[in-house]
Amino acid sequence: MMKFIVALVAAQRVLTTYATTIQAQHQEPLVEHAATSQEYNSTWKFRWHRGMLTGFPDNLAAEANFTGSMNSFMVNNNITQAQLSIAQNGKQLANYGFNWNDPSTPDVGPYDHFLLASVSKIYCVAALRELMKRHQVTPDTKVYERLGYSSGSAKDARVFNITVANLLDHLGGDDSWHLGSDPAYTMREIALAMSGGAHPATEREIIEWKLKRPLDFDPGNKAYCEEKYNQDFCYSNYGFILLSYLVANITGSPDYYTWLNANILKPQALDVTRWVTDPSAHAKDIVQQIDSGYGPSALNPLDQDPVPWIYGGDDMYKDSDMGGAALATSAGMLTKSLASCPAWGWQATRSPGYYRTGSTPGAFTYVTQRWDGLDVAMVFNTRKYNTDDVHGVLYAQIDGYLNSNRPSMVGM
Ligand SMILES: *[C@@H]1O[C@H](CO)[C@@H](O)[C@H](O)[C@H]1NC(C)=O
Ligand SMILES: *[C@@H]1O[C@H](CO)[C@@H](O)[C@H](O)[C@H]1NC(C)=O
Ligand SMILES: *[C@@H]1O[C@H](CO)[C@@H](O)[C@H](O)[C@H]1NC(C)=O
Ligand SMILES: *[C@@H]1O[C@H](CO)[C@@H](O)[C@H](O)[C@H]1NC(C)=O
Ligand SMILES: *[C@@H]1O[C@H](CO)[C@@H](O)[C@H](O)[C@H]1NC(C)=O
Repeated sequence: MMKFIVALVAAQRVLTTYATTIQAQHQEPLVEHAATSQEYNSTWKFRWHRGMLTGFPDNLAAEANFTGSMNSFMVNNNITQAQLSIAQNGKQLANYGFNWNDPSTPDVGPYDHFLLASVSKIYCVAALRELMKRHQVTPDTKVYERLGYSSGSAKDARVFNITVANLLDHLGGDDSWHLGSDPAYTMREIALAMSGGAHPATEREIIEWKLKRPLDFDPGNKAYCEEKYNQDFCYSNYGFILLSYLVANITGSPDYYTWLNANILKPQALDVTRWVTDPSAHAKDIVQQIDSGYGPSALNPLDQDPVPWIYGGDDMYKDSDMGGAALATSAGMLTKSLASCPAWGWQATRSPGYYRTGSTPGAFTYVTQRWDGLDVAMVFNTRKYNTDDVHGVLYAQIDGYLNSNRPSMVGM
């Protein structure tokens, strides 16, 4: 036993020295690129940066496994930037940044920020859990009533029955995502309808636009979703716009993020930022969120010219969807966050066995909490990957490795 521990400590020391003295790891691709990508450029290199690695039975073998699995996934799927983080109860075990691209482009490191897409919702869940703890809301709080809307303001009286729990459960009566009229991606039309396009749609305008429309099902009616989608919820981006507006509204904060930052992020030293729509805010970004789509702008609603999807051409004004889609952080901050906030659901701190994905033009993200207390986060700079499923292919490999190589020293 003693020998084993000494060997492990020695291995860790080697790794630590390595990590602090060598900033960049350059490696040839470990696997051949599948010959499907016409744009494949043979000068591209797979490179990775270790933030840290510790606690595995064999740290070097763990590193070879994680970097190897990420390498083949990124090359096979034409993904140029990504991160991986593994932690246990908030204690970081591994943090990496990965690059597969032209060696002259800036490298993403383990702590650069990626657009989170729907993984942003874990922070909105954390905010509501905190407000429940402070008795500012309960799961049964009727949301529109709490905001002060009167019955005359709604097209469908059922909206007044929508509770905080309904929204957190994706059972608020809104099936707009599935039905293809998701307000989160209809913001230019909402801006034109609500202000004549004088400014991008505000959260309040989105809510009041939605209030003029009927619900898709009775709030809380799981049977509707079970019958229609064979799952006990109907995924709703709108529900999280409404929840984030509620947070700002009942706390009297200028906006949701201001409250989140002061009350959830800063106290836990979580560096999570806003990914705003204005392209000038991204001139110096190291992470290049990649999508080739163009469309009319949700940022400048009166402008007919198509702009990139990632800058509002996808019909989302991200500044009005910090609750559901537009926060940014690193994989490492995500696993740190998962120590106190569920990957899926809202009633318990952990949701073992569940995972949550985020997908929006320019981003794909993934978080999961395992039964053995390990948390895993991965972020990618595109959702236009070719074929493989992140959960079914890439996470399956990492999961397989973790199952037989548990970082057993943690917590001792
Ligand atoms: C690979 O991604 C790049 C952008 O990073 C894109 O220009 C290219 O078309 C993609 N190739 C394939 C085959 O998807
Ligand atoms: C491949 O990348 C190199 C380095 O950036 C560049 O000089 C070259 O033009 C690229 N080749 C093709 C076919 O795109
Ligand atoms: C990592 O380990 C898993 C589980 O054993 C395996 O499926 C995967 O192929 C390994 N990856 C590499 C690059 O060796
Ligand atoms: C609201 O919920 C109550 C209690 O379930 C129900 O009686 C009422 O009909 C609902 N209101 C509407 C407009 O559906
Ligand atoms: C709360 O929301 C209601 C409805 O949108 C609005 O009338 C009110 O001004 C808001 N209050 C605060 C403090 O933001």
